[in-house]
Amino acid sequence: MPTQRELFYLHLAQTTPFPLALEIERAEGIYLYGNDGKKYMDLISGIAVSNVGHCNPEVVKAIREQSEKYLHLMVYGEYVQTPQVELATLLCSVLPEKLNSVYFTNSGAEAIEGAMKLAKRYTGRTEIISFKDAYHGSTQGALSVMGNEKLKQAYRPLLPDCLTLSLSEGEGNVLSAITHKTACVIIETIQGEAGIREFSKEFLQALKKRCDVTGTLLILDEIQCAFGRTGKLFAFEHYGIEPDILCLAKSLGGGMPLGAFIAPQEIMQSFTHSPMLGHITTFGGHPVCCAAGLAALKFLLREKHLIEEATEKGELVKQLLSHPAIKEVRGKGLMLAAEFSDFETNKKIIDRCIQQGVITDWFLFCDNSMRIAPPLIITEDELREACGVIMNVIASIAKQSPN
Ligand SMILES: Cc1ncc(COP(=O)(O)O)c(C=O)c1O
Repeated sequence: MPTQRELFYLHLAQTTPFPLALEIERAEGIYLYGNDGKKYMDLISGIAVSNVGHCNPEVVKAIREQSEKYLHLMVYGEYVQTPQVELATLLCSVLPEKLNSVYFTNSGAEAIEGAMKLAKRYTGRTEIISFKDAYHGSTQGALSVMGNEKLKQAYRPLLPDCLTLSLSEGEGNVLSAITHKTACVIIETIQGEAGIREFSKEFLQALKKRCDVTGTLLILDEIQCAFGRTGKLFAFEHYGIEPDILCLAKSLGGGMPLGAFIAPQEIMQSFTHSPMLGHITTFGGHPVCCAAGLAALKFLLREKHLIEEATEKGELVKQLLSHPAIKEVRGKGLMLAAEFSDFETNKKIIDRCIQQGVITDWFLFCDNSMRIAPPLIITEDELREACGVIMNVIASIAKQSPN
């Protein structure tokens, strides 16, 4: 009989030659449990998904209850489905007033696709501006606005009229590249896969202003940084700006696949005419996923202290991870990156941390930095324990290769 691991390599499409291939039997809170009995602390939340913890009991209950009522009923947007309506209503109630229309998707990339299409329809323009080292997903539209040539060049030609800008060209040049031809600027409020990179408040405010002047829509991708991760419910709250379109996914579904792009009614209306059915999905906003998302958001809003504490917990990690091998720990709240000298050192540390029961990884476009983004429910004691493991691993590796 082949083992599960052998069948995994045989029948599951692989995306790297070296998948982690951990065999996990169950997950609860901040912990994953291997089928060999090993317990792992998840410091990456399945990449920014499990903000309210793995198998949050309120989310699981909502999934159970909804699955006993109905699963898929009809393609998106036709029937009035309570879980969709309740989640959209709750989301709108915690967002700026103008963001009052929610389109649910299955994933982050689909939210990005929908948002870009919406911007083109509403403005009647085609040019899309994005940023160096941005990650917005892996579908071809999302790839077109990815800020990393290495990952996208194999798929060219991609969407025309997409411009990638870099702040190294100077803020003034970036802003003046946005013109009356630009349909939208798409930007992660805080860049995730770039290795947790923040833009300045001044730049983000100037960007919004320039978009307003040119009639360009500002799309904020908060797929990775929303839902309390940075110490605010939404990361844009740190910067005094509001998007024209907001993209969400990952932790939106509380562990179930769910994305959304959210815009003012007036903009979202563009999909309903000339021609209608401007964006279509069969499964987007699946009732079970929306029920899970609703439970997750209610949990987070009730346990608001988790959002506030994310900032203190992030500061604690910055204090605890102090070693000459660590060049910097950067980020906001529990969206952090610890930088080492190079990929080899980072990978060695990450591999050994996983062996010792602490799961971290590196970033797509920043492989010398370690991701630290645990579920928000992690306690300070658990963070101390996790950082203790990381520090011991760093010390043992530094001892082996002092240079
Ligand atoms: C900022 C950001 N945008 C978009 C995506 C794409 O989301 P998905 O993998 O659900 O398509 C990701 C995924 O990592 C992301 O981090």
